Amino acid sequence: MTYRVIPVEPFDYVVFGGTGDLARRKLLPALFHRFCDGQIPAGCRIIAVSRRAMSDDEFSAAAREALDRYLPEAHRDDAQIDPFLEIVSYVEVDAVSDKGWSDLANVLQSGADKVRAFYLAVGPDLFGEICGRIGAHGLVTPQTRLVVEKPIGKDLESACALNDAIGEVFSERQIFRIDHYLGKETVQNLMALRFGNVLFEPLWNSAHIDHVQITVAESLGVGTRGGYYDTAGAMRDMVQNHILQLLCLVAMEPPDSLDADSVRDEKLKVLKALKPITEDNVDQVTVRGQYKAGASGGDAVKSYIDELGNETSNTETFVALKAEIANWRWAGVPFYLRTGKRLADRISEIVITFKPIPHSIFPKGSGTVHANRLVMRLQPDEGVKQWIMIKDPGPGGMQLKYVPLDMSFSETFDARNPDAYERLLLDVIRGNQTLFMRRDEVEAAWIWTDPILDAWKRAAKAPSAYTAGTWGPSASIALIERDGRTWHEDTV
Ligand code: BG6
Repeated sequence: MTYRVIPVEPFDYVVFGGTGDLARRKLLPALFHRFCDGQIPAGCRIIAVSRRAMSDDEFSAAAREALDRYLPEAHRDDAQIDPFLEIVSYVEVDAVSDKGWSDLANVLQSGADKVRAFYLAVGPDLFGEICGRIGAHGLVTPQTRLVVEKPIGKDLESACALNDAIGEVFSERQIFRIDHYLGKETVQNLMALRFGNVLFEPLWNSAHIDHVQITVAESLGVGTRGGYYDTAGAMRDMVQNHILQLLCLVAMEPPDSLDADSVRDEKLKVLKALKPITEDNVDQVTVRGQYKAGASGGDAVKSYIDELGNETSNTETFVALKAEIANWRWAGVPFYLRTGKRLADRISEIVITFKPIPHSIFPKGSGTVHANRLVMRLQPDEGVKQWIMIKDPGPGGMQLKYVPLDMSFSETFDARNPDAYERLLLDVIRGNQTLFMRRDEVEAAWIWTDPILDAWKRAAKAPSAYTAGTWGPSASIALIERDGRTWHEDTV
């Protein structure tokens, strides 16, 4: 693999929520990898911020523990941990009072001309308050950027309010709304496949594509995140952002370049062209589910309700739906979207099923001619499979066989597959917004999602139960089978 390390300018990364789960699980390990690859130049600082009273040494010990825990040993260069921790420091700051802000300002003063990124790894209820204080303490320099994590709101109204609040301090050019799915290798590969080859684009439309499936299945339950998750559910947690972003990349027109606005303009058009799902058709085209007790990886696991400790919760942990895009390219091509927790396996993939051949020249008994499929696997085993028909080798006449042309990235490229955050954290420093969501995209996604959530709320129906460790409620199978199709499995 040709592995390029693109240099960046010295920077200060200020991570609010620096002692939290995201920082320990994702941000510190990602920055550590970039450090080991020589991409963090001398003079950079990572400044963790939270309201907990902690010395630099105590934070350093916590950071070391996080690296130990979340980096697989095979990918951990232990000799680099001490030098990495030297660039990491800690400042105690209270997001909701003035406590600690002048300390932070003092620390940052010595780096006033560097690129400065504020990463808000905190709940969205704190975004406005933190941004206000960043502004009031004069911490925004021309080279400053803001990174915010999803969820951006819980509906259109709250998303607009959040965007307004952060927009009072930062210009749109400075705001990086992260959707870590856009940093995944296969997701970026989707653009390489579509726009780096002539093979696919002529077929990439309703004349040749029968339907598209996007599945993001997780085998884990909500675990300790129940407090947040119960206020969100699978629709807000996964569909409104990650899955719609994947759909946009599949469905968008070719942008004229990879420039941030060229790509985001095209994605926005897709979001605006999504056919509304309302009370009138919500029952036919959507399925909500919630897991009950079952088994995962051979172990008995609790129901969502028991994990949460609230037996009245009607929050969905599974969604399947049929989306449609009302434009020339996609009219009549269903996009079946599916995501859930505690499903049978952890598999995320985009499956493009082409139309069947118009006429078969093969005699009876040659075997079924299956439609071509292009399967882009996001995880695990990132890669691309193009399913095609071939002749089964050997004597016995013309026997057809459906086989995958299989490109597994891990087997083809002898390199570690970088985590999405590694790419995205450094894109912020480079000022490259291509893989980040613009304000109008987030709002357009809510404009489509809100009526579905409203229709569910009005219907007040409990989500369909599914056993943990299965593929979700049977209604989701019926959803696609009603149209004479099935969810893709990695076999014929
Ligand atoms: C997050 C969601 O954005 O994505 C989680 O909040 C989900 O609920 C996670 O588990 C999935 O990310 P990944 O990269 O593990 O597929």
